[in-house]
Amino acid sequence: MIKIKDICFSYSPDDDNPLLALDHIKLTIREGEFVALMGHNSSGKTTLVRCLNGLLIPQHGEIFVDELTTKNPADLLPIRKKVGMVFQNPDNQIVSTSVEREVAFGLENLGVAPETIHRVVHAILQQFDLEKYRQHPPHLLSGGEKQRLALAAVLAMNPKYLVLDEPSSMLDLKGRRDLLDLLLEIKRDNAKKKTTDQTSIILITQYPEEALLADRLLIMEGGTIVYDDSPTVVFQNVDHLKQIGLEAPVEFEILPVLVEMGYGSEVLSG
Ligand SMILES: Nc1ncnc2c1ncn2[C@@H]1O[C@H](COP(=O)(O)OP(=O)(O)OP(=O)(O)O)[C@@H](O)[C@H]1O
Ligand SMILES: [Mg+2]
Repeated sequence: MIKIKDICFSYSPDDDNPLLALDHIKLTIREGEFVALMGHNSSGKTTLVRCLNGLLIPQHGEIFVDELTTKNPADLLPIRKKVGMVFQNPDNQIVSTSVEREVAFGLENLGVAPETIHRVVHAILQQFDLEKYRQHPPHLLSGGEKQRLALAAVLAMNPKYLVLDEPSSMLDLKGRRDLLDLLLEIKRDNAKKKTTDQTSIILITQYPEEALLADRLLIMEGGTIVYDDSPTVVFQNVDHLKQIGLEAPVEFEILPVLVEMGYGSEVLSG
């Protein structure tokens, strides 16, 4: 379980009047939960997820990842093994000289046996349709391919908490569909596992239809969480979401209009 206990974070904490990118956030993410996170630009989404694996340390409050805390420097390595993060911009993440090395890198750091690494790298590259680029330097890949590689490298390490910061921003329609299938597969697999072995997903997205797949939708605004409920409940706040620069899926916009026109739910369902 990830417990976020009343955290505040500022990029300029020493200013007289520091701007809070995160303003008293309290949140619990349970094992196996699929949580979507939306909010307009600068609302604090990336800052929040960067705190989850200790890339940023809040000036106030504390984050617990299972029994570990990002406050304790000795906990950071084990926290990063548990919290796998796919960054908004894959160029900030890819470090190796070949596609194959990029996927193997994290596994080597975890001390996985070479035969296992070989097997996992092969399987993951096939799954993400990157096998043909095995020896290629990653910087020669397209934006979407880099995003797939970043995701493949993180998934190879089988993190307990999978954090995805707008992972489909550079993907085409097929790439996005494949990603969503993968997330749904993780969700289905969770149902077969003990709670403690389940994978949680935290997905930052600008696509309402992706958020609809989640168990829970958080909306951020000005460094705070303004909604935390099931997506179908949150999306009913069509007008307020518009005011804060977001859109609900089109069916949520149409439904109240139809009801106002006198169509009852029996017409809509049938
Ligand atoms: N490295 C940084 N240094 C200083 N300020 C930053 C830095 N990164 C982000 N900020 C500021 O912190 C606030 C929150 O930014 P953040 O990147 O978390 O937003 P976001 O919701 O992820 O936005 P986007 O949708 O554009 O990705 C913004 O006001 C931003 O300008
Ligand atoms: Mg961001």
